[in-house]
Amino acid sequence: MSLERTLIIVKPDGVQRGLTGEIIKRFEQRGLKFVGMKLMHISTELANKHYGIHQGKPFFEGLVKYITSSPVVVAVLEGKKAIEVVRNTMGSTNPVSAPLGTIRGDLAVEIGRNLVHGSDSPENAAIEINLFFKPEELVSYERDTDKWIME
Ligand code: RTP
Ligand code: MG
Repeated sequence: MSLERTLIIVKPDGVQRGLTGEIIKRFEQRGLKFVGMKLMHISTELANKHYGIHQGKPFFEGLVKYITSSPVVVAVLEGKKAIEVVRNTMGSTNPVSAPLGTIRGDLAVEIGRNLVHGSDSPENAAIEINLFFKPEELVSYERDTDKWIME
């Protein structure tokens, strides 16, 4: 059984709107396991690194302003196909076209306020986890329910 780890961020709008619990709950109920979690303020330097791939795009400045505007909750989730499962639980980038039942489809209406981030590939997941967490902040543990969630 090969497990993946991925980074999620409850963005400033999620924390400000009191949706942290709702968003975390959806990943937890899906069956993913939390191995790290914290509340933090993202610095401009960290935002530039995290969203470096979008540097030069018209929305980049607004994106950095948004993600650094207020605290976020960051977490590392573990599970089979965790990266894909998280992305599907979030819904598409633009909430206007995100399916109902997804976080963005149920709780958001605009691309610049789309509540949640999730790593988009195993390579980026490893880079992002390393950017936001020290190794000792991640906790490995057994869950008795795992056999009811995974074959
Ligand atoms: P994220 O990285 O935040 O999980 O979102 P994503 O993969 O679904 O989307 P991505 O293409 O990586 O874009 C990063 C964030 O930039 C904002 N954005 N605005 N105005 C625009 O056209 C536009 N495009 C992207 C969104 O907040 C998006 O989540
Ligand atoms: Mg992205």
